[in-house]
Amino acid sequence: MAANDTTPQRAADAARLTACSLCAGETLAGADPLPGGQRARLDRLASRSTIRMTYVECLDECERGDVVVARPSRAQRARGVGPVWFETLAGDTLTCELEQWLTAGGPGVTPVPERLAQIVIDRTGEPTVATEGPHSAHHHDDEKENAMGETTKIDPVCGMTVDPATAAATAEYDGTTYYFCATGCQNAFQSDPSKFV
Ligand code: FES
Repeated sequence: MAANDTTPQRAADAARLTACSLCAGETLAGADPLPGGQRARLDRLASRSTIRMTYVECLDECERGDVVVARPSRAQRARGVGPVWFETLAGDTLTCELEQWLTAGGPGVTPVPERLAQIVIDRTGEPTVATEGPHSAHHHDDEKENAMGETTKIDPVCGMTVDPATAAATAEYDGTTYYFCATGCQNAFQSDPSKFV
């Protein structure tokens, strides 16, 4: 399992980006004029101190290609802001727009730019915007209640809501059990738990 944080210096409340290392570059493939293709663009984003980049092997949206997830900062997550998933995010224009959006605050802070909005993956049921004020959130930022009043968990790697009863994987860290949508997220977490909590 290859999950590595290539960010040189952690920004305390930096925007967080999770990218699939397996389908990076699929969209443009051989037509990409950049040496190294989309992975090189992602690596450039990873070099920014304002972005915390995590690569995982598969985000379980494999039919789409170039899947990346913009995860809210810890502060935004505490407000109930959810992750924003993108497909076919490739090329200079979209990658630059992603970088500018994340640098401007990303999820919960700045609206998704129009061109990026066109490649958002509709994950119905996943919150993408805060509906409560910063002082009204009453839940732990890794927990939510679903419509039935049952407690669900937030996958700390991709931000997906996970039902503990059907979670693909779990991990213990610092006395807390974390739940994951896929083993790829579990592996990324276990490579450096402190990066996600
Ligand atoms: S291979 Fe990229 S999401 Fe599965």
